[in-house]
Amino acid sequence: MATFIVNGQSVSVEKNQKLIRFLRDELNLTSVKDGCSEGACGTCHVLIDGKPTKACVPSTDKLEGKNIITVEGLSAWEKEVYTFAFGEAGAVQCGFCIPGMIISAKGLLDVNPDPTREEAAFAIRNNICRCTGYVKIIDGILLAAKIFREGKLPAPETDDWQIGQRVHRLDVAEKVQGFGAFCDDVYLDGMCYGSAVRSEYARARVLSIDASEALALPGVVGVLTAKDIPGKVMVGHIQKDQPTLIDVGEITHYLGDSVALVCARDIETLEKAKKLVKVEYEVLPAVHNPEEAAAENAPLVFEHAESNLQAHKYVSRGNAEEAIKNAKYVIRREFSTPWTEHAFLEPECAVAYPTEDGCVMLLTSDQSTHTTLHECAAMLGLDHEKCKVQNMLVGGGFGGKEDMSVQHHAALIAYVLKVPVKVKFSRQESILVHPKRHSMKMDFTMGCDENGIIQGVKAKVISDTGAFASLGGPVLERACTHAAGPYAYENFEIEGWAYYTNNPPAGAFRGFGVTQTCFCTETLLNEMADIIGITPWEIRYRNAIRPGGVLPNGQIVGEETGLVETLDAVKPYYDAALAAGDAVGLGCAMKNAGVGVGLPDWGRCKLIVEEDEKLHIYTGASCIGQGLGTVLVQMIVSFAGIKRSDIIYERSNTWIAPDSGDTSGSRQTMVTGEACRRACLKLNEVLEGKTLADLVGQEFYGEYLAKTDPLGAEVPNPVSHVAYGYATQICILDKETGRIKQMVAAHDVGKAINPLSCEGQIEGGVVMSMGYALTERYPIDENCKPTAKYGTLGLFRANQIPPEITAIVIDKPGLNIAGGAIGIGEITSIPTAPAIADAYFRQTGEREYHLPLVNTPYAKK
Ligand code: FES
Ligand code: FES
Repeated sequence: MATFIVNGQSVSVEKNQKLIRFLRDELNLTSVKDGCSEGACGTCHVLIDGKPTKACVPSTDKLEGKNIITVEGLSAWEKEVYTFAFGEAGAVQCGFCIPGMIISAKGLLDVNPDPTREEAAFAIRNNICRCTGYVKIIDGILLAAKIFREGKLPAPETDDWQIGQRVHRLDVAEKVQGFGAFCDDVYLDGMCYGSAVRSEYARARVLSIDASEALALPGVVGVLTAKDIPGKVMVGHIQKDQPTLIDVGEITHYLGDSVALVCARDIETLEKAKKLVKVEYEVLPAVHNPEEAAAENAPLVFEHAESNLQAHKYVSRGNAEEAIKNAKYVIRREFSTPWTEHAFLEPECAVAYPTEDGCVMLLTSDQSTHTTLHECAAMLGLDHEKCKVQNMLVGGGFGGKEDMSVQHHAALIAYVLKVPVKVKFSRQESILVHPKRHSMKMDFTMGCDENGIIQGVKAKVISDTGAFASLGGPVLERACTHAAGPYAYENFEIEGWAYYTNNPPAGAFRGFGVTQTCFCTETLLNEMADIIGITPWEIRYRNAIRPGGVLPNGQIVGEETGLVETLDAVKPYYDAALAAGDAVGLGCAMKNAGVGVGLPDWGRCKLIVEEDEKLHIYTGASCIGQGLGTVLVQMIVSFAGIKRSDIIYERSNTWIAPDSGDTSGSRQTMVTGEACRRACLKLNEVLEGKTLADLVGQEFYGEYLAKTDPLGAEVPNPVSHVAYGYATQICILDKETGRIKQMVAAHDVGKAINPLSCEGQIEGGVVMSMGYALTERYPIDENCKPTAKYGTLGLFRANQIPPEITAIVIDKPGLNIAGGAIGIGEITSIPTAPAIADAYFRQTGEREYHLPLVNTPYAKK
């Protein structure tokens, strides 16, 4: 029992509990986000007697007499200032970390009204942000400090919402002030809690499941097993190979496989009940890596399969073998890149409830409501109309929220047990279950002539796709097709294999396979430059693909192709670093926007004028933090001339919003953007001389198919993707500390719809891949168990980023869709690692071919 003050009110707590639980569950102060419950992420920060403190750490009994402030308790002026400052700085993306950031900022500014940049970064060192790279959050804190000192809000840089303007994102206020609802912020009357009992062994046969003791526990609503699934047991993004629940007699695929689903009235009972479900196993030998998977007589991850091979890709043009044989210089190297955990700040969560008409309503945090609908309706054996899905705010995804994780379990409980239920992953479950970035082993050979012109590239890629296919096939394909790099040469041959193992599954992750093979191609080019005696910049400039040129995949690229512009943009920084004798490294990349390779790639958008006389945007495209809503509003302002204040962006749902595919492959700005533009054209046809009030009830629908050719199409110049983004990044090291003093990242984005958002994507992608190159680890032990916790993943903190991250947005119109916009989400993370590796080679003289790099001051000794 304790009595303390929360946001100015005295409160008494009977039951001793973690402060976060009391604030969220009893006081409904949902700005206090639960990102890990283990003191590692910082999303739960509150002020206790003026000091920023993680609310998941102290228990309420220890807080007698304390004064606690959450974001809800800030004054109206403080809320206004932080909202303006974070909006103006472009500091908000998914928003899950933001209330915690605001609390840490307030903790600083209350005692230090004029902090330095370093002091601001230090103040948020315990707040992880996976989206922004911290740069703009620090900018936002410093701007807020200035406004507090001056006592008045400045005018925003712009309030013109046309394409190309740096407007504040439309979701800044709800994310800064914490009233925007993520799934975990949903509390329904009578809501129960659900969770899966997971396998104790990576590979074992389930012999029996006994739930009798769990069912006898008061407060338990039910325990479900595979036999309770009314429809199809298997879900899966492309291949339906993921069992919703493992049945008796079946073999588990990894430690995250679910054996039973428990539903209880409260979380404590749920945790007790899970331990009471007794499962007997016959433990079987596991497959730990692709080498074991490929061995003769290897145990089979899928017992009825012929082998553990999940995907095989072969891409070839010209004659790489011959070209390399005839090349003046040839380099062959072996590379490896690790698993990477997405570490989005919002753990997976879904809320489901039965509706009166026998339907199931699902509130989700994922990368496509329509994909979730297809998966869950099939599993429940329901028609699509009987299952509805709506996105809440999505606290980051980066590819890790494309597969089913909690959604199907929540839907099953709600449908079978007829109760509203929340299924939320613990951070440890999140780290175990959602598919990771594939670890890959790669063998690359490159041949160049005496001028450094690439003659041919050959490669082999082996990928560990873990327990399930997920997006293993397309990731391997993209790894192979993009291994050529953004260069104009003809002879290219690459073969790739993805193997099932009993490790956690691997799937989509920002970069989608290209992050891995780009490291190889770019590293070889850097080595080749040294052999030829030219700079890494010069060898790129000589080989760069230019408008009208032909890529190694045969595609003729368009006027929007801007690789050379990105090289030109970094050149002053590169030359200055060389002149100063600094170690500087460079990497380039290309990345498709859109799914491509002949697959259906639809963007769809519906604009409806509703009773409020506003134009509402409905699209099945999920906003996972990248700012899609703001992009679409800017497009409508530009294409239809509607005022910003008359446009409302609706979150994705499945019953009004048309399916616009997954938020994946840097596709939504371009594909859904073009669908939105087409809807605007239809609106314009009837808008002439009218106002929105005259159009109430009318709908305007746009759709766009990004049409491409399949791999291996029998045409001389196949269109593999409707567009590519291009980038050059450089890394400059500090002579004194050996750490990175500046990253410069120049990105060709076609037409930048909102340059402020583009910069945020670049900064975030660069810092994420600094982790990939230098610090992040996802170790898996001999039992196929990932051993990392959120706090040991090696994520960069605000006070560890380089003093300068220079984002350069190259506006190069030319694409005749979506106002010329090319997606930017993924490419921001691709050239970073080779640039960093090259910089460290320049400093140490030792070239590394395996990530994360070990010969740097960032490496754990
Ligand atoms: S929820 Fe408290 S630090 Fe992560
Ligand atoms: S905005 Fe910080 S985690 Fe997404």
